[in-house]
Amino acid sequence: MAAINLSSLLLGVFMLILFNGSNALSSNYYDQTCPMAEATVTSAVKKAMLNDKTVPAALLRMQFHDCFIRGCDGSVLLNSTRKNKAEKDGPPNISLHAFYVIDNAKKALEAMCPGTVSCADIVALAARDAVHLSGGPSWAVPKGRKDGRISKASETKQLPAPLFNISQLQQSFSQRGLSINDLVALSGGHTLGFAHCSSFQNRIHNFATKQDIDPSMHQSFAASLQSVCPMHNKVRNAGANLDSTPTVFDNRYYKLLLEGKSIFTSDQALLTNPTTKTLVTKFANSRDEFEKAFVESMIKMSNIDGGGQEVRLNCRVVN
Ligand code: HEM
Ligand SMILES: *[C@@H]1O[C@H](CO)[C@@H](O)[C@H](O)[C@H]1NC(C)=O
Ligand SMILES: *[C@@H]1O[C@H](CO)[C@@H](O)[C@H](O)[C@H]1NC(C)=O
Ligand SMILES: *[C@@H]1O[C@H](CO)[C@@H](O)[C@H](O)[C@H]1NC(C)=O
Repeated sequence: MAAINLSSLLLGVFMLILFNGSNALSSNYYDQTCPMAEATVTSAVKKAMLNDKTVPAALLRMQFHDCFIRGCDGSVLLNSTRKNKAEKDGPPNISLHAFYVIDNAKKALEAMCPGTVSCADIVALAARDAVHLSGGPSWAVPKGRKDGRISKASETKQLPAPLFNISQLQQSFSQRGLSINDLVALSGGHTLGFAHCSSFQNRIHNFATKQDIDPSMHQSFAASLQSVCPMHNKVRNAGANLDSTPTVFDNRYYKLLLEGKSIFTSDQALLTNPTTKTLVTKFANSRDEFEKAFVESMIKMSNIDGGGQEVRLNCRVVN
């Protein structure tokens, strides 16, 4: 009896150590095994940005999608196979792009330190670099994520939708251990990038029975969106920038939000609750406060455990 108890106790302790060991991320994770890991990712991001100014926005959004579905496990990067439709081919895939940047970084890293740097870590580093190289803050990225082996298009339904109201947004974030502060700070990611008409057409056509346009929108701003996005839009790439400086990581998004010039219902929703509205005002008034909060929340988001098992050799396919 005593022996059984002792061995099960030891097993328990061992499992605990194993679990913590595989779980805990650290910012010096590759210091011994791949000291050039970070510099290699940075140079891939820089190189891509020279040819395409939309790359940073794409990389930032990529990490959001990666972490919100199955945790930060690189599942967003996997290609569909004959038997399985992957996340990147799911419905809200419309603006996910720049996967080649991750591939280029991975190729360079495999040449340097084979089988060492996970794709999920590359995504986290690339998102940080995207922000920093757009004029935003930098931070130490905790590393040591493992890549997952599953990616399902159907699970992208779990992403928060641009039509969400404040309680739906709050719920989506809290299910992932993120607070209402994280929601407001991370929505500031909409300081970069672009949205297609379909993502905000609910606000500019048939908003309500007697109102074509969302009344919380600035009038001439709404009119300008209507003119790029007519009711039956046929232009595949039509849409609008998420703020007026879409390649600069600044706090302009919050200033415009307070003027009724945000793009999504989910952005506007941040003004419908006193706590979130106070934070929006704080971030609109202080770029510094925004940056501090954003960094903290990005680290929190990038810690959502994906329970991955391997370091993929090619980010688009499981080993
Ligand atoms: C709060 C819930 C969120 C919702 C409902 C949401 C929704 C969306 C939608 C619908 C688009 C445009 C897709 C398109 O039409 O092409 C978009 C773009 C974008 N989102 Fe969010 N998002 C949210 C949170 C975030 C977070 C947490 C981040 C990162 C920290 C982020 C970063 C971005 C970026 C950078 C773009 C532009 C992408 C590009 O230009 O390629 N979003 N988001
Ligand atoms: C993944 O899909 C892309 C786009 O369809 C294709 O160009 C690429 O060759 C695929 N890569 C692998 C490794 O299957
Ligand atoms: C996006 O998803 C749709 C619907 O699942 C799919 O038909 C389309 O090919 C995907 N687009 C891209 C660019 O992957
Ligand atoms: C948000 O939408 C949900 C689902 O439609 C609804 O049940 C809830 O009452 C709404 N919350 C607010 C604050 O409008």
